[in-house]
Amino acid sequence: MNIVLLGAPGSGKGTQASLIGEKFGLPHVSTGDMFRENIREKTPLGVLAKSYIDKGQLCPDDVTVRMVEDRLAREDCKKGFLLDGFPRTLEQAKALEKFVKIDCVLDIDVPLGKLLRRLTGRRCCEKCGESFHVDMLGGAENCPKCGGKLYIRKDDNEETVQNRLDVYVSQTETLIDYYAQAGTLRRIDGDRAIEEVFADVEKVLKAL
Ligand code: AP5
Repeated sequence: MNIVLLGAPGSGKGTQASLIGEKFGLPHVSTGDMFRENIREKTPLGVLAKSYIDKGQLCPDDVTVRMVEDRLAREDCKKGFLLDGFPRTLEQAKALEKFVKIDCVLDIDVPLGKLLRRLTGRRCCEKCGESFHVDMLGGAENCPKCGGKLYIRKDDNEETVQNRLDVYVSQTETLIDYYAQAGTLRRIDGDRAIEEVFADVEKVLKAL
């Protein structure tokens, strides 16, 4: 199964990807995580990506497409994968079609007005990468799953989140129509509890 997770920043792509990965054994390919790893390791790609990510803008299509093409060519993606955060532009979607066939695009749909609060309240684990909302943590400073230290992503401040949401509306939302026309789009109501959202995701994937 080759799956794409579409959805605005904070809609729950990473959260659902982690559950899908556990249940269906698919490798989770997140372009955001790949860029952040490069930033941590201070690679030339990381230096370039940081200048865009810190402002809430998209990284250039050519470097992003190359990075994804290399990743999907690896052995662990041969039997399927879960793409999280890619494609994000029409150019990326068209480039993707040239090297793989996508079976299903899950659009996690949450009203944009709710996402600022979700993202500014997000805490991520530096050890296992899982993310939580402060409301779930009851004041804990460590990851409930593995005990790792929690941190706030640099692009989760109010101003940058607003930019990311604007970029989503102007450059990514159009992909909903694109994949609806291609017949691969499945809309998931993401404005519910995480387990309820996952129950729908599971239903769709089991029917594929
Ligand atoms: P990326 O890391 O992909 O960020 P994003 O798309 O903005 O998405 P997020 O990771 O912020 O949110 P999410 O949908 O995964 O939500 P999550 O599950 O964490 O990209 C970062 C940057 O990298 C981009 O801005 C861009 O610069 C660059 N980039 C990446 N891909 C690129 C590309 N293809 N082209 C160019 N540039 C690219 O959940 C969010 C919060 O909500 C958490 O606290 C979570 O606990 C909570 N939550 C989740 N589900 C629920 C629920 N059902 N109810 C209540 N709370 C929930």
